[in-house]
Amino acid sequence: MATTSSVTLEKLTSLCKRRGFIYQTADIYGGLNGVYDTGPLGTLLKRNIRKAWLKSLEKTGYDILQIEGALLTPEAVWEASGHLAGFQDPMVDCTECKHRYRADDIDVEKACPHCGNKAWTAIRQFNLMFKTQVGAATDASSVAYLRPETAQSIFINFKNVMSSNRVKIPFGIAQIGKAFRNEITPKQFLFRMREFEQMEMEWFCKGENAEEYFKKWIEIRKNFYKEIGINLDRIRIRPHDKDELSHYSSATSDVEYHFPFGWKELEGIANRGNFDLSRHTEYSGKDLAVYDDETKSSYMPHVIETSVGTDRLFLTILFDSYSEEAVEGETRVALKLSPQLAPYIAEFMPPSKKIAEPMEKIYRDLKKKGYAIQFDVSGSIGKRYRRQDEIGTPLCFTYDFDSEQDSSVTVRNRDTMAQERIAIDQIETYIQNTLG
Ligand code: GAP
Repeated sequence: MATTSSVTLEKLTSLCKRRGFIYQTADIYGGLNGVYDTGPLGTLLKRNIRKAWLKSLEKTGYDILQIEGALLTPEAVWEASGHLAGFQDPMVDCTECKHRYRADDIDVEKACPHCGNKAWTAIRQFNLMFKTQVGAATDASSVAYLRPETAQSIFINFKNVMSSNRVKIPFGIAQIGKAFRNEITPKQFLFRMREFEQMEMEWFCKGENAEEYFKKWIEIRKNFYKEIGINLDRIRIRPHDKDELSHYSSATSDVEYHFPFGWKELEGIANRGNFDLSRHTEYSGKDLAVYDDETKSSYMPHVIETSVGTDRLFLTILFDSYSEEAVEGETRVALKLSPQLAPYIAEFMPPSKKIAEPMEKIYRDLKKKGYAIQFDVSGSIGKRYRRQDEIGTPLCFTYDFDSEQDSSVTVRNRDTMAQERIAIDQIETYIQNTLG
């Protein structure tokens, strides 16, 4: 068994479509750039990613509450947050071939990478927010935006959450939800999209503890990647230089992953200070400060943010788990996903329709208990193994002609391809042990 080649974006994109992880949105109409739909397998994988993320928050032992904010947000929120004035990327066009670029993605001292001419427009700033109109009126008060980050829904609900739940500083508010950015050049598949999902957590603490929590959260997040089985050699923490910091941040460290197209941000961890709560206090006129019973005075909490895109993490997990091996003169593609993330933990495959019934019964009974498993009776065993390898299923169970006599099945391991015989009444335990 030898690794024959490494993963490329093209191979992953093709696997995602072929096996039903991700589809281009509205592909029968030519698609919509930077927007994707999630297929059945992708939906299961995403569900497991979210579960793992939430579990890692729970495991901290901290008080962290979850909310689901609206996607449509009035303009006032984005004025206060600074997004209206500052959430923009520099844009430049080639006047010859009309190609559009993010000006920081290319060297405008050189010719257009698409047509080879050097005929640039001036660089303009382009605001990335999707603007829309709410209701029939078209005056300024009806302007709303699709949120470009989930974080602001948390900040504007900070007082609601505090006053309706018995929580005290320090505590966190977490959210999983959609965000929208009119990216100038969406690219690299799920890496830079126009509609995507974020998993964000805002940790509210006293200013004097913010630096310590910032360091703590970097460790917690690094550990999360280890727990979900990401190769840590391909993960690094990169602190931002002062001139890179967002308008709200006093310190940011990116969790970067080594993609085939280089080291890129996977997650941002930021010390946002008290910027957001102070700005919303100023712009809304509602005091978001917190009263401290000990000091008998009010203060504005500081915030440590952890923010990762579900889709970007999805892509990372696929890159990280993809493997190609030469097996008996053929290329075996396998997604070596951690069992907790795999869309299906097991496949049940009788070798022939004639003896499918007992295996189907085992499968149905386990399925009713909530296990993510599949049953497949058609095609050669080899082909069925290949399909399950490609979608990352850790275990395949086969009920064969001996099973009736010895009350056992064969279980085959995705990563080692080793097979062993186990008693039928041990299948559930075997699955549970694999899930960990
Ligand atoms: N609230 C802070 C914030 O939104 P960000 O660095 O702009 O910070 C956080 O985004 C994370 O969201 C990124 O690290 C990335 O994982 C994901 N993300 C951002 N823009 C994205 C896009 N266009 N497509 C896919 N994921 C994106």
